[in-house]
Amino acid sequence: MTKKKKVIVAVTGASGAVYAKVLFDQLTILHEQIEQVGVVMSDNAKEVWQFELGNQHYNDNSFTFYHKNDFNAPFASGSAKYDTMIIVPCSMGTLGRIAHGISNDLITRAADVILKERRKLIAVVRDTPFSLIHINNMKIVTEAGGIICPANPSFYSLPKTLEEVAGTVISRVLDLAGFEQDSYRWKE
Ligand SMILES: Cc1cc2nc3c(=O)[nH]c(=O)nc-3n(C[C@H](O)[C@H](O)[C@H](O)COP(=O)(O)O)c2cc1C
Repeated sequence: MTKKKKVIVAVTGASGAVYAKVLFDQLTILHEQIEQVGVVMSDNAKEVWQFELGNQHYNDNSFTFYHKNDFNAPFASGSAKYDTMIIVPCSMGTLGRIAHGISNDLITRAADVILKERRKLIAVVRDTPFSLIHINNMKIVTEAGGIICPANPSFYSLPKTLEEVAGTVISRVLDLAGFEQDSYRWKE
């Protein structure tokens, strides 16, 4: 088996808390491939989760949660060697702060660290439509080595539930992060 991964999951206040929930569920299933999952949520992420999912069960899992202002979290420094950071969903505000190096909380600092260390940043951006500011910020993050993986579900696997719809995006995220996983693959 390949080396176990150290993963940061950041949840921000864009619509689509279900994407974070499905990612948490999948990472729990994939625990044998994981050494560490560190989670950080923005204040608005918690509000959107409550509003959209009707609960506060975001830490019903074995992951380590860090406060958004906790710069003592290991992944606030490159020395902790986290492999991958997934921001899901990623608001336009967080995207903009990352694009412009504004490391004013643990989420934006961790993303800054991942990019400077040339590790993998996956931003599941969510808004519609996009302004030129959003598009330029996605370009900047892409040029800095990040991967923009929009929260655009696909429907060719005929998903039946909201979680299956969200799962069409999360399975792409897990592929990008390098996990071995069973998922729907076109024509296989
Ligand atoms: C219910 C709800 C849905 C939202 N959806 C989005 C969205 O899809 N995309 C976005 O960029 N911001 C969205 N916002 C606004 C962000 O939460 C807001 O800009 C916030 O400042 C982002 O901060 P954060 O990135 O630190 O979470 C939404 C807010 C609420 C309350």
